[in-house]
Amino acid sequence: MRKIIADRISHINYAIRELVPLAKELEAKGEKVIYLNIGDPLKYDFDTPTHVKEALYKATLEKHNYYSRSEGDSELRKAIAFKEKSWHNVDVEPENIIITQGVSEAINFVCAVLLNPGDELLIPEPSYPLYSTYPTLYGGKSIVYKCSEENSWQPDIDDISRKISEKTKAVVLINPNNPTGTVYEEKTIKMILDIASENSLIVISDEIYDGIVFEGNFKSTAYLTKDTPVIVLNGFSKTFLMTGWRLGYLYIKDPTEQYVDELREAVIKMARCRLCAATPIQKAAIAALRGPLDHLKLMVSKLRQRRDYIYKRITEISELSAVKPKSTFYIFPKIETRGDWKNDREFAEKLLLEEKVLIVHGSGFGEAGRNHFRAVFLPPIHVLEEAFNRIQSFLKKHSPK
Ligand SMILES: Cc1ncc(COP(=O)(O)O)c(C=O)c1O
Repeated sequence: MRKIIADRISHINYAIRELVPLAKELEAKGEKVIYLNIGDPLKYDFDTPTHVKEALYKATLEKHNYYSRSEGDSELRKAIAFKEKSWHNVDVEPENIIITQGVSEAINFVCAVLLNPGDELLIPEPSYPLYSTYPTLYGGKSIVYKCSEENSWQPDIDDISRKISEKTKAVVLINPNNPTGTVYEEKTIKMILDIASENSLIVISDEIYDGIVFEGNFKSTAYLTKDTPVIVLNGFSKTFLMTGWRLGYLYIKDPTEQYVDELREAVIKMARCRLCAATPIQKAAIAALRGPLDHLKLMVSKLRQRRDYIYKRITEISELSAVKPKSTFYIFPKIETRGDWKNDREFAEKLLLEEKVLIVHGSGFGEAGRNHFRAVFLPPIHVLEEAFNRIQSFLKKHSPK
């Protein structure tokens, strides 16, 4: 038989959804699975704000049903500039903002425009999986730098310096961080910006959780940069509760003004290949950005309570420990005990099979995630309570006596 599938496909791995088919099989047999795997608030008791839904309907009635410009609707780009200024005090020109179909597509675009075969992208570990998938698809490499759990998962600056090579093109920050929930310290971001500038590197800053912060002082990398070109990636999935709408953006902040035109034109070339993001959804996103933010206040307050609950439960379970997340809706506990499982992947599978709780194995976020798992604290407290009762009894049953 002729081999029809390209080799690159074998490198694609998205751990977050890996055990979902097994969970569905269990459900088909009548089991009740608790899903703590996927970072989608809309699967729980959160919903897109009503005024945004209405704006979508109105946009379709008003016949905004055509292809829009590949770089995005100009009113939306202005509204994003307004948001970045009012939320983060960043001045960005609307022309340097490009609308994408989610941050996922923005990650694709930056990898496509920056990486020649063999080029390297420095990424944090543990890391969101797409930051290693896309470089590989373009023949590049993601090189991981450490984030130290002892230091609340802050990036290890020395490790970043050590890992820079002739081939490095850019350093990625994920702040606030998935999967650790860490908010990077201002001094850390500034040091990374300095290192990048000394080595003529671009900094890519994924800020998709910028509005879901409980404590810690989140600062946008674009606000802090003095002389380093920064590409910020952000979107509507999390803070505007629009995961299924698939809308995001990237913007270029280049104080040197050396790269901005080239970068913008390169990204727009990529954007043209997929024509445009959905036009009515872009129109609705304007309403999201210009409208009230009550949904976000409510979300942060619910999530803070859920975070406090889940963290307390983890501290009470001797087989687990975790850094308390300051943002997002993820916690990344360490499994302190060796038990009846070979590794964290097997831990996740056994937990699902025996207790019907689906979490993501830590090594799905890279080697540094070994012996950890990621759980979302999106569900209401009574669901988290049931999930952690099951996790606790699983650990009791399997831990060495
Ligand atoms: C850090 C990070 N970046 C990007 C994404 C992708 O988001 P989007 O829905 O905008 O494609 C996610 C989704 O969970 C994420 O956690």
